[in-house]
Amino acid sequence: MTKARVLVLISGGGSNLQTLIDASRAAESAYDIVHVISNRPDAYGLQRAEQAGITARCLDHKAFKERSLFDAALAQMIDEVCPDLIVYAGFMRIMGADFVSRYEGRMINIHPSLLPNFPGLHTHTRALEAGVTIHGCTVHWVTAGVDEGAIIGQAGVLIKPGDTPDDLAARVLVQEHRLYPVCVQAVASGSAKLVDGRTMLDGKPGGIALLG
Ligand code: GAR
Repeated sequence: MTKARVLVLISGGGSNLQTLIDASRAAESAYDIVHVISNRPDAYGLQRAEQAGITARCLDHKAFKERSLFDAALAQMIDEVCPDLIVYAGFMRIMGADFVSRYEGRMINIHPSLLPNFPGLHTHTRALEAGVTIHGCTVHWVTAGVDEGAIIGQAGVLIKPGDTPDDLAARVLVQEHRLYPVCVQAVASGSAKLVDGRTMLDGKPGGIALLG
């Protein structure tokens, strides 16, 4: 089996990157992580990649005066690698429509809420403020609307009385680490596809659900 070549985009610690690296080493993995790019030079995820023997580079967004110039430079770096799949793993940049449409259907993100609830930032605080009792994380296709692309998979976390945002963040992160390798495997193997704005799982509309 030819493995899908995955490029991972990061901005920070890279704990999701690490779980994907670890999962990719299993014999049954449908993908190899071939390249990691960070938009921040101090991202610890760069070290994780290097320790795993994966080429890791930084493209510092601060070096660009305009968003569109950063987007174009990143697209050029990506196209040099020619990946089958682009995985955002804590990549905290909103990319322009040209960039997003170039990779539509082969670019995915993980977000720390049960979308469509709480797109954007501070998701755990907002979930507690809203009084929801179930929270979690979502893997979705990256499309032009921020955190709006079709859902590939979700993992749920029960909110307990007295939970703080940090408590929730820690429990959601554990679920992220379960969910992301499963979703990347599904996309890399061709089981999950974006068709007419919906996720098709083995040819049927649907997605992956994990309950914590
Ligand atoms: C994760 O919680 C991920 O869901 C979130 O950033 C964290 C990165 O952690 N991403 C977003 O909020 C994207 N909107 P990591 O660097 O340890 O994987």
